[in-house]
Amino acid sequence: MKALILSGGKGTRLRPLTYTGAKQLVPVANKPILWYGIEEVVAAGITDIGIIISPETGAEVRAKTGNGDRFGAKITYIVQDKPAGLAHAVKVARPFLGDSPFVMYLGDNLIQQGDLSYFLKKFKTQQQDALILLREVSNPTAFGVAQVDETGRVLQLIEKPKIPPSNLALVGVYFFSDTIHEAIACIQPSARGELEITDAIQCLINMQKQVLACQLNGWWLDTGKKDDLLEANRLILDTYLTTEIVGQIDSKSQAIGRVQIGAGSQVINSTIRGPVTIGNNCYLENCFIGPYTSIADSSKLVDADIEHSVILEGANIIGIHQRIIDSVIGQRAQLFVAPRRPKALRFMIGDDCQIELT
Ligand code: TTP
Repeated sequence: MKALILSGGKGTRLRPLTYTGAKQLVPVANKPILWYGIEEVVAAGITDIGIIISPETGAEVRAKTGNGDRFGAKITYIVQDKPAGLAHAVKVARPFLGDSPFVMYLGDNLIQQGDLSYFLKKFKTQQQDALILLREVSNPTAFGVAQVDETGRVLQLIEKPKIPPSNLALVGVYFFSDTIHEAIACIQPSARGELEITDAIQCLINMQKQVLACQLNGWWLDTGKKDDLLEANRLILDTYLTTEIVGQIDSKSQAIGRVQIGAGSQVINSTIRGPVTIGNNCYLENCFIGPYTSIADSSKLVDADIEHSVILEGANIIGIHQRIIDSVIGQRAQLFVAPRRPKALRFMIGDDCQIELT
């Protein structure tokens, strides 16, 4: 059994962060999203992992993630020259996959720990060509949607249907036998120009192959948009964070609830109300850091009040007297109050940024 993790794509919905980096490397609770997927795959006992990368962000993914040693796995990187669809990614990975069955995992998706092992066992014990995971959603028109009979057999799959046949959306985790390659060979690019994995699975169904579905009860998050990223951060901090204070926190500060402070970080005259994680070599003075906040390495926050936010590496937030909530602040971004007159707002804002002022 192998795993194919998709870490290419365009990432348009997470701009501007994706102009300068891979969306799968954006941290959730100070760890790249992609790494949760790798860890989940390894926990399920799969250590031969292929990662699809794009020519633009592949080098960064490769440099940061490495050859797999840190995860107890062997990682093979596979360059997809253009983001031509999930089925295209499988096609490109064929030399790596050979005739092996495999799990395909979207690198910006998160599922609850342990769920992958459970469904992998199901896939291995039943003779089937594909096992897909489904989750009830309130807005099925935004997803790939499945129609399933009472035995769990998939009858039909439709990508973003106008009139959805059910409210069961496809989760970004799929199990395939080698027959998927036959199906991919039969399909044509969709209206948006991509080779769609839903079309390939539909093709398996049309070929009378066994395509089964299981419903996922644990959580599933697609972190491709800002609010979903914040929700993933909230859930991971809420579920897994444990207290670990390695850095220094002075006597005028208090850390309440579950708080992590990394090595070389200093907290002065501040209140931190967990769950909060603060990376290494950060400097915080006169701050209130509220629940569900992750602050990456080498950030500096002075006179700041922040809650339910993700701060990326090397960001500086200084003297902002309004509370910052529900925010994602990019690497090395600088937010500060102008020291001179005329008192005014001055911006140097990258493309596709969103700023809400009161
Ligand atoms: P999506 O989030 O569906 O696509 P995208 O990354 O292009 O993002 P956006 O819609 O915001 O422009 O992709 C799901 C995952 O699969 C994600 O981790 C990127 C990856 N992917 C590839 O590796 N190759 C591809 O051809 C596509 C379409 C996605």
